[in-house]
Amino acid sequence: MKSEGARTVQPAKGRLGVLLPGMGAVATTFIAGVENVRRGLAEPVGSLTQLGTIRLGKRTEGRAPAIREFAPLARLEDLEFGGWDPIPDDALQSARVAGVLDERHLEPIAGFLKGVAPMPAVFDQYYVKRLDGPNVKKGKTKRDLAEQLREDIRRFRKERGVERCVMVWCASTEIFIRPGAVHASLAAFEKAMADNHPDIAPSMLYAWAALQEGVPFAMGAPNLAVDTPALQELAQQRGLPIAGKDFKTGQTLMKTVLAPMLKARLLGLAGWYSTNILGNRDGEVLDDPESFKTKEESKLGVLEHILQPELYPHLYGNVFHKVRINYYPPRRDNKEGWDNIDIFGWLGYPMQIKVDFLCRDSILAAPIVLDLTLFMDLAHRAGLKGIQEWLSFYFKSPMAAPGLVAENDLFIQQTKLKNTLRYLMGEEQITHLGLEYYGA
Ligand SMILES: NC(=O)c1ccc[n+]([C@@H]2O[C@H](COP(=O)([O-])OP(=O)(O)OC[C@H]3O[C@@H](n4cnc5c(N)ncnc54)[C@H](O)[C@@H]3O)[C@@H](O)[C@H]2O)c1
Repeated sequence: MKSEGARTVQPAKGRLGVLLPGMGAVATTFIAGVENVRRGLAEPVGSLTQLGTIRLGKRTEGRAPAIREFAPLARLEDLEFGGWDPIPDDALQSARVAGVLDERHLEPIAGFLKGVAPMPAVFDQYYVKRLDGPNVKKGKTKRDLAEQLREDIRRFRKERGVERCVMVWCASTEIFIRPGAVHASLAAFEKAMADNHPDIAPSMLYAWAALQEGVPFAMGAPNLAVDTPALQELAQQRGLPIAGKDFKTGQTLMKTVLAPMLKARLLGLAGWYSTNILGNRDGEVLDDPESFKTKEESKLGVLEHILQPELYPHLYGNVFHKVRINYYPPRRDNKEGWDNIDIFGWLGYPMQIKVDFLCRDSILAAPIVLDLTLFMDLAHRAGLKGIQEWLSFYFKSPMAAPGLVAENDLFIQQTKLKNTLRYLMGEEQITHLGLEYYGA
């Protein structure tokens, strides 16, 4: 049954271009993964769009279609990949350097991966200290560089014959930049681009170029980019969805599951110490204190938002929260994250929780890139514009409208996401009240 106010969603006609600034571990694990799935060689584990279902109507109705059949998402067969990177390696070489996937997932698709080569990047070492590469654009001003990105997008569209595009940032974490006057309005931002202002980072230029070309933009790192009034103004003006920031994968994913449990049961928290060892290129970039600062801000906000110390000062008013990332090359992409959580219960008696998560960073991030690509495209076809709060499910540091507190609890985020899909498709919202089953 269609409820009132259903949106008109344009059909997913033609091919969808996936534009990826940054073709490192996450991007190549995503691209190679999609190709393996398309050829029936592997399963898209971890992807809500590919494996998830959605309950519709009452529990007694037994309606739970696959999300990808319920919502008109682009098909994997219709995805075309493009990207930029200062390191000129094609996707095969880059995937081998990243060392995430085994040869059994690379060798059979080697020809395909070689065909995905990065376009010259807008890159400046000032923003990512521990990285360098020769595949870089030249231009007098930041505006010139951004215009070159716009040309790349137009050429990609034409050459690959894609109908629509989505851009998902999979490049490095840049140095910490505070939102300032140059980000306050589109006019100020564009002037600062022309003036080569240092607070205009490359990620902002990609986002600006994408939005100018009618392409939705999602930010996978904690970089400011679309989390600025200037680019939100542009997204509104162009009627485009934006989302961010920072893919929610290993340790923070755990945190946003455990912390709501503590709060739900009103168990107190004295301290949460999180530490990681990580040996991939991302780990090396984050070894620089300025890039780490950007990541740290993103990781630290989560607990405060979930625990609401202002409402529960006795339980959460004095939490010692620490996050460390240690670059340790032998582990490569296989991160190990330890959490020591000091909690207290009835009458204040202390207890501890220890988590040791031996995860694979890019294996957790790749399905997020896929889901964001497909949902951002859906949002665009449904006429949703500006910040897509329903996609906060995928982010460590979710964006929200000014004056709103972002939602970090994974299961509230999931409910929001599924209810948005129901809304888009004209199905009734699920409130989980459930009294109707008990004669109320
Ligand atoms: N893997 C995860 O679980 C996870 C979770 C959250 C966020 N992230 C973020 O995702 C991003 C990618 O992670 P990764 O492991 O693939 O890192 P990576 O270092 O393997 O890849 C990043 C790539 O971006 C390129 N790059 C840097 N600046 C660029 C620019 N201006 N334009 C184009 N390319 C540029 C680098 O050369 C590199 O190849 C990082 O910012 C990371 O912090 C990853």
